[in-house]
Amino acid sequence: MADAPHRKIVLGVTGGIAAYKAAELTRELVRRGCDVQVVMTEAARGFVTPETFQALSGNPVHTEMWASRAPDTMAHIALTRGRDAIVIAPATADFIAKLAHGFADDLLSALCVARACPLLVAPAMNREMWANPATRRNVEQLARDGVAMLGPASGDQACGEVGMGRMLEAAEIADALAAYLAPKLLPGVRVLVTAGPTFEAIDPVRGITNRSSGKMGYAIARAAAEAGATVTLVSGPTGLAVPRGVRRTDAVSAREMFEAVKRHVAQADIFVAVAAVADYRPAAPRAHKIKRDGRALTVTLEPNPDILAWVARRPRPPFCVGFAAESEDLARNAEAKRRAKRVPLVAANLAQDAIGADESELVLFDDEGRHELARAPKDALARRLIAHVARLYGRAGKRKS
Ligand code: C5P
Repeated sequence: MADAPHRKIVLGVTGGIAAYKAAELTRELVRRGCDVQVVMTEAARGFVTPETFQALSGNPVHTEMWASRAPDTMAHIALTRGRDAIVIAPATADFIAKLAHGFADDLLSALCVARACPLLVAPAMNREMWANPATRRNVEQLARDGVAMLGPASGDQACGEVGMGRMLEAAEIADALAAYLAPKLLPGVRVLVTAGPTFEAIDPVRGITNRSSGKMGYAIARAAAEAGATVTLVSGPTGLAVPRGVRRTDAVSAREMFEAVKRHVAQADIFVAVAAVADYRPAAPRAHKIKRDGRALTVTLEPNPDILAWVARRPRPPFCVGFAAESEDLARNAEAKRRAKRVPLVAANLAQDAIGADESELVLFDDEGRHELARAPKDALARRLIAHVARLYGRAGKRKS
């Protein structure tokens, strides 16, 4: 889990039922080493008391623009100076509307207008409020103003309805904030990623595929985008959402994936082949559904193109990273693959351990030897892999110039 030690954060809490999650978020940020200054709107105080946030943050909570007992009567300016970011969580539809128009009629909205630091907003509202055209306009306006949106997510809502508008969980907001504030390792670098399985048709309804979930590839695309890269994700069939800031191109078969990679590879500085590409496809897929007739059926398979090997053999290839899911003898197989495909870096894991799971561990093989990335959630693992790739890519770039 990403930490953000010594970061100074203003946490703005507005009046929604998700305000109780802001208490958890305060605790999470403090646990990660942040100094948290909570500012509440009047409506927020109807849900959670300032004392709760004071106890969790260890700092006095600000609620009034002109508090007579406060030593600093210009709180709306003083509070944001020297801060690394303002996070509004939860942000109601009403507060988002105020932000979009620059209103400053209470302490929290005034300090957002007076801020000299980045603003991140975690919306929380009923699905109809989120879908409302006015909210859509306001959210688009905030994006144009450079405000970062954290969520919302889809799911059960406090009102009993189900849909888009749930606030992200505290750990997700803390992760997103840490990533936002982290130094950018791949600023402006163009990264092409393949992810997920492929599906090779036997007939119109059946096919050959594998158990790859796409989670690792999507986590790598997300980590690269967080590192400041421009990311194109060529994805096989998965049920996963496109990570924020990533451009996705869909492919079903290995050949479609290959065509998509061919279209994008000339614009890539780094290529990360995470997809579990089917090695073989039916040589002659049937135009109509195969009928059962009780006899044995033979499907002839022919080999698919090796996308990674093709990219690595281009005249001026991008920096290539391969994956090796092995069921045995990890080191020997991964090294053999690295040499055979001529890629500078191979990330290897045990297939039985990694496929479909939320956690994994990786062993990286490059010119310098092996590096172990200990077991962790795939998102965290992907960030460490991207940090390693950025180091090697930086050195390779320096050698060229
Ligand atoms: O040879 P193997 O399939 O084990 O190699 C795995 C690596 O090669 C992965 O990085 C995978 O994405 C890539 N690959 C590919 N095209 C194929 C087969 C594998 O890009 N047809």
